[in-house]
Amino acid sequence: MKHWILAGAAVTALALAGPAAAQQPIVIKFSHVVAQDTPKGKGALKFQELAEKYTNGRVKVEVYPNSTLYKDKEELEALQLGAVQMLAPSNSKFGPIGVKEFEVFDLPFVLPDKVALRRVTDGPLGKRLLKLLEPKGMVGLAYWDNGFKLMSANKPLREPEDFRGLKFRIQSSKVLEAQMRALGSIPQVMAFSEVYQALQTGVVDGQENTPSNMYTQKMHEVQKYTTLSDHGYIGYVVVVNKKFWDGLPADVKPSLERAMAEATKYSNEISQKENDEALEDMKKSGKTEFITLTPEQKARWKEALMPVYKDMASRVGQNVIDDFEKAVKQSGTN
Ligand code: LMR
Repeated sequence: MKHWILAGAAVTALALAGPAAAQQPIVIKFSHVVAQDTPKGKGALKFQELAEKYTNGRVKVEVYPNSTLYKDKEELEALQLGAVQMLAPSNSKFGPIGVKEFEVFDLPFVLPDKVALRRVTDGPLGKRLLKLLEPKGMVGLAYWDNGFKLMSANKPLREPEDFRGLKFRIQSSKVLEAQMRALGSIPQVMAFSEVYQALQTGVVDGQENTPSNMYTQKMHEVQKYTTLSDHGYIGYVVVVNKKFWDGLPADVKPSLERAMAEATKYSNEISQKENDEALEDMKKSGKTEFITLTPEQKARWKEALMPVYKDMASRVGQNVIDDFEKAVKQSGTN
């Protein structure tokens, strides 16, 4: 008798919870470390808008920009634990969770332009790299662009020798570490949210980043010189917690895939303009002096940095480097 009452109560509870639960939106917490006013920040907001629209509000996307929820390393751990559902870390940040192959994007001067980039990300190598994320509990949904990097410091950086002994903030990538060492400088891994203060207080002497990241974090205000070096690239992988993604209702997932495809197109279309404008704004501010390298100086940077390829082959995988270079060559822009 008691069992019947309990079972009956459970059925009633379920019946009550059923419709109520169905009304609860599925929440996607999308955490990232940059400002809203950047290619990634805008891409995240576009995904939010489209995901909510295409699912008729069944999915709610909460965007947490500017490291308000988690910093670089923490956010990847939070994703693996399911505390957030979506992130877009840069390619350079997957090493600490054991996916070193993405550091191929960090090799100095590896990408001549965005045409070559697309050839890599949209081709077999791009797909193969995304697959490596699944055993880590995440699914790679898309590649989002930022842009090519500038190098800044409180002294002018024209020749490789100018780097000697300076401390540079880097992202958590061994390839970037090797790059800075090849130039004779001292790399220091640091979360993105801490860079401005570290530059301001002299904890580090310099840094490398895209114009949009430098400008929105006001780094140019605390760096006397910025070299237009285009020596490397920053882009992102949009990742989602695998258990969450696999468990989505069958009628919701296609709408989210559509939202992601369109947000990706949007973000990749605006990235160049966002960076061009940020560069112009920094030039106008007059706070940092821009340096253009002569072809000879650039050739010397390249020469100084080429050993990084050999040194990092065992970490990134020679086959990954070869496939990357093959894709670049096929794009016909190198
Ligand atoms: C950095 O840490 O410098 C960048 O990866 C930040 C970002 O997400 O663009």
